[in-house]
Amino acid sequence: MDSRIDKYLNTNIKDLITEFNSIQTELDKFEIGCAPCNLGTCKLKDVVEIHNLNEVDEKKLITNIFKIIFPTETFDIPRIGKDKVISKSVSISPPIKLLVDEHVLIKRVLALIPRITETLDLKLKEHKQLVIDITDFIRNYADKYHHSKEEDILFVGFHTTFDIIEVMIGDHILSRKYVSEMLKAVDTENTELAKENLLNYCNLLTEHIQKEDNILYPWMDRNMETKQVGFMYSEFLKINNERPEIQSKYENLTSKLESLYLQK
Ligand SMILES: [Fe+2]
Ligand SMILES: [Fe+2]
Repeated sequence: MDSRIDKYLNTNIKDLITEFNSIQTELDKFEIGCAPCNLGTCKLKDVVEIHNLNEVDEKKLITNIFKIIFPTETFDIPRIGKDKVISKSVSISPPIKLLVDEHVLIKRVLALIPRITETLDLKLKEHKQLVIDITDFIRNYADKYHHSKEEDILFVGFHTTFDIIEVMIGDHILSRKYVSEMLKAVDTENTELAKENLLNYCNLLTEHIQKEDNILYPWMDRNMETKQVGFMYSEFLKINNERPEIQSKYENLTSKLESLYLQK
């Protein structure tokens, strides 16, 4: 392989986009949105692999990228992804399905947040309680129950492989900061502060879940050994069995919030 190909395949995508802006346009054609990522240290070859492109699309993308970097030269492009691309509709493994199902409940709460912020007034006792309920959901369900499964079990086996995991953990950390600000807002009856942090959380988690559901989890599923899938599933079930009430408790809370805010 030409050493220049190797060099650029192993270059951070953000550096490439900074040097050659139109590379993002090529990535956009394949719905690969690296520009908004705040880390962006994934290597070009990792970005290509994680998005599971078929051989034709992968070749097209890399050829076009190298045309931008070396406009007057042509290269023999190597295959990066797996030879057999797994269909995007392939069924997901049981542990990943469990996490995707938890996302469904989190997304129901996220969907309510813009509507809640329209009328929020922390001078009102019931609105204070509402923000306390939402922070309770975020802390105990979204974070302690769901994010901890990702951080303590799912991500562990992949930690050193791709920087996207660092981005995901960074999102979890930032989401905790937003929650502390929400509680501070309740204590000081600062409605604007509460609204700002509720909306920040909503935007962050909406994008975060999209990345996990559509990119990260499918890639993990394609790369997990059967033994790893089994181990992960039993660890997840262990957590669920230790807290059997948690799913129904937060489903009930979500339904209650929906009954208050979806009919308005
Ligand atoms: Fe996550
Ligand atoms: Fe998640």
